Amino acid sequence: MKKTVRFGVIGCGLMGREFAGAAARWSQLSEDIPRPEIVGVADPVPGAREWFTGNFPGVRISTADYRELLSDPGIDAIYAAVPHALHERVYIDVIEAGKHLLGEKPFGIDKAANDRILMALARHPEVTVRCSSEFPYYPGCQELIRRIREHEFGKIIEVRSSFCHSSDMDPEKPINWKRKVELNGEYGCMGDLGIHVEHVPFRMGWIPENVFAKLSNIVTERPDGKGGRAPCLTWDNALLISDVRDADGGTFPLLMRTMRLAPGATNSWSLEVLGMRSSARFTTDDPNAFFYTDSWGREQAWCRIGVGYKPMIPTVTGGIFEFGFPDAILQMWAAFMTELGGGTPSFGVLRPEETRLSHRLQTAALVSQREGRVVRLSEI
Ligand SMILES: NC(=O)c1ccc[n+]([C@@H]2O[C@H](COP(=O)([O-])OP(=O)(O)OC[C@H]3O[C@@H](n4cnc5c(N)ncnc54)[C@H](O)[C@@H]3O)[C@@H](O)[C@H]2O)c1
Repeated sequence: MKKTVRFGVIGCGLMGREFAGAAARWSQLSEDIPRPEIVGVADPVPGAREWFTGNFPGVRISTADYRELLSDPGIDAIYAAVPHALHERVYIDVIEAGKHLLGEKPFGIDKAANDRILMALARHPEVTVRCSSEFPYYPGCQELIRRIREHEFGKIIEVRSSFCHSSDMDPEKPINWKRKVELNGEYGCMGDLGIHVEHVPFRMGWIPENVFAKLSNIVTERPDGKGGRAPCLTWDNALLISDVRDADGGTFPLLMRTMRLAPGATNSWSLEVLGMRSSARFTTDDPNAFFYTDSWGREQAWCRIGVGYKPMIPTVTGGIFEFGFPDAILQMWAAFMTELGGGTPSFGVLRPEETRLSHRLQTAALVSQREGRVVRLSEI
């Protein structure tokens, strides 16, 4: 029988439900990894909590006030998936209550908030804290990570990491909290999507030395949902170009693109590494595929192989099947629960110090956009 860790969920929206889905199919995992059991939920919207109480008989606390979960000795850990303006207060309260935490990105609405969350964590080293990021757990991305670690690319020419949506292409889509600066933050699309494109590069040791940013705000107002119009001041799209130092003391460009206005893209995450010996890419647009180059003398050919269901953490699912978003969420949760249990997954969930680097990069990007120049991260 797998050991159980009792969880409270703060924020019962889109991502809260994804966690519940992963917890409900823990039996899928073949390894002995502590099992999350949801015993409490907190959200000011009763209907959001009812989905949990209706589907999970183990939920014994349903409350509008998340502090009730924090004072409950029968809760060991928290998943918090709330709007960005609440990250600082909620995450610090969770850490100070001595509960383990998987928080959501951007892990604080801005750099000052992130600094204060990390200060609280420094006072409580006994709790395990990580930030959600699931895309690296696709088998195709794991294959890319393996090749990076084994130096298969030779000298790196360029790395491109991107996350693109078309969800905002309809200018008549009503505004929600993710399009309001006061709730989503000044980073706009970077705060929403940036950590997803940073996790693998940062973990591979590709630390940006500087950044030049091109940020766009294309749809500047939206229906307010009450018959009027509301200003929409968040950045829609961002292109960040950074220098990263390579093993020979030279540098290569790291391009990180986050877009809410990307025609035709649904939830399209991709990572591409171009190297002198070989190149490879993975995209969730074609989730069963892994693309790589083979070469004959001077020529290179792009090849495509079907990866199949080859998860980082073994499951009962057959290898001939295909992998999808809920599987990536399950793998991320299995990696987090492994870390919570004292283990070390081969690719771990985003660490608090990596969220600090993310905030330095995104803050530098705002300065770059404002001042129209390359900004060194050492300035931030
Ligand atoms: N990892 C991912 O792929 C991914 C995807 C989408 C969103 N996110 C992140 O997840 C977080 C939540 O986003 P979402 O899409 O689930 O949003 P959402 O709007 O669907 O859900 C947020 C929930 O928080 C609740 N809430 C508001 N105030 C609260 C409070 N004081 N206490 C408890 N609950 C409160 C809301 O009522 C809502 O139900 C954000 O940080 C977002 O960036 C991550």
